Parts: sequence; C-alpha cells; structure tokens
Amino acid sequence: MHVRVVENYTCLGEKAAEIVAAALRANPRLTLGLPTGGTPEGMYEALARRFQAGECDFSQLTAFNLDEYVGLESAHPQSYSFYMEKHFYSRVNVDRQKVFLPSWSGGDCVAFCRSYDALIASKGGIDLQILGIGINGHIGFNEPGPILHRDTHLIDLAPETLKANSRFFPPGAEVPRQAITMGMGTIMGAKEILLLASGSAKSRALAEALDGFIRTTLPASILQLHPSCTVLADKEAGVLLKGGFVP
Ligand code: F6R
Repeated sequence: MHVRVVENYTCLGEKAAEIVAAALRANPRLTLGLPTGGTPEGMYEALARRFQAGECDFSQLTAFNLDEYVGLESAHPQSYSFYMEKHFYSRVNVDRQKVFLPSWSGGDCVAFCRSYDALIASKGGIDLQILGIGINGHIGFNEPGPILHRDTHLIDLAPETLKANSRFFPPGAEVPRQAITMGMGTIMGAKEILLLASGSAKSRALAEALDGFIRTTLPASILQLHPSCTVLADKEAGVLLKGGFVP
C-alpha cells in the first residue's frame, strides 16, 4: 500500500485528479470505477477543470459506479445517477453509452446484479477503482458485519451510513434504506485502487483499515491485501496513521 497525506481537501481533489488524468493519458480507453459522496467532489471538479483547459479527453472512457440507492429514480436529485451528471458527466466529454450505474428499478435483483458484474467483466474489468471510506469502514456500500459479499448485491445500509448520508437530503426526508453495491470481489478485482479519505470523522476508520487487523467488521481493511492500492488522505483524515506517511 502506498499512502500519501496531503495538506487539505483541495490538494486531495487535485492529486486524485492528477492520478486519474495520468492513467487516462497512458490508456485513453481506461475503465474507471467511481464513487459518489462528499469526498470525491473535489476530484470531479478538478477533472472538469482539466477538461475545460484541454488537458483531458474522456471520450473513450468507460466508467462503472460503485453503488446506487434502491428506490430513487435517476432524475431524483439525491440519486447517484443525478450526482454523476451534476458533478462530472455533464461537465466533460464522456460517451453516455459507456458510463454505468447499478440502477435497479425492480424485477429479478440477483439477475440484475449478475449482469452488472458481467458487464464489468466484458470490458476487461476495472483498471482504476476510486473509493471513499465510510466512518464505519465501509467501501462501496459493503457494510461491516460477519460476512462480506464477493459480487454486486443488494444491501441494507448500516445505521451509521443512513445517518452520515442524511446530510445530502432535505431535512425530514428519509434516506433510502437499501442500495445496490459492487461486492468486495468486484472491487478487489480492479487492477489499481485509489482510496480517498477526507476529514477527521474518517481518521479512526482509516487508521484501522491501514494499520489494524484485516476483518469483515472493517471492510476497508481488506484493501491491505490488494497488490496495487494507493491511499490519499488529507491531514485531518490521516492524523491517526502510524508514522512515516508524509507528503
Ligand atoms: C459512495 C460510496 C461510499 C462513500 C463513503 C464516503 O458511492 O461508495 O462508500 O464513498 O460513504 O462518503 P463521503 O465521501 O460522503 O464521506
């Protein structure tokens, strides 16, 4: 694992965008795995700026989102489809035929999840998977528990996740209780992983994930087993990491 702590949220977004842009230059037909949430907004902003400056071309990119709420239509402002349009896709030259989210709208859920994994496999798997981390150590929506799923699946969101994500919803609105998420096997199958962490609320989960035991009760700890995982944290998130991780 390569760990880098940067000064602040802005630097985190810039550095993450730099890594994505370099990967895209090396392989314009890159397949990315993408997160939503507060953490990657700065990265999407920095990527959009690079596109506007003529530094990035996303036209051949394929992208798969990690997860999507169950029960929100794509046009719903809190859906992850909407998020991706707002923060990234509407601002760059992606081909809409090549970007995918696990937006399940009913029917056979298991078959839907299998088809999402099959689609990823048909594109040769994910080249670079970008992740955030939950305060409970989840990645994607693989929530802590006695077991972890390998494949894309339907999950009941943990109470901590519902609480954390309620900040994106209008006061009083209910956060969807379920989501479809890539499984740990889907995530760990990526050739490279970039984990982003920002803010002091993530410091404990991040330290446990990087320096603690590998366990299903802290899903991000499994990343210790990935052969090519980079962790980018801002100072607040990185504050509890063991010494030696300096910019
Ligand atoms: C979202 C996702 C989640 C988030 C995590 C952190 O697509 O997969 O694992 O990355 O909950 O969310 P933020 O960045 O909002 O703190």
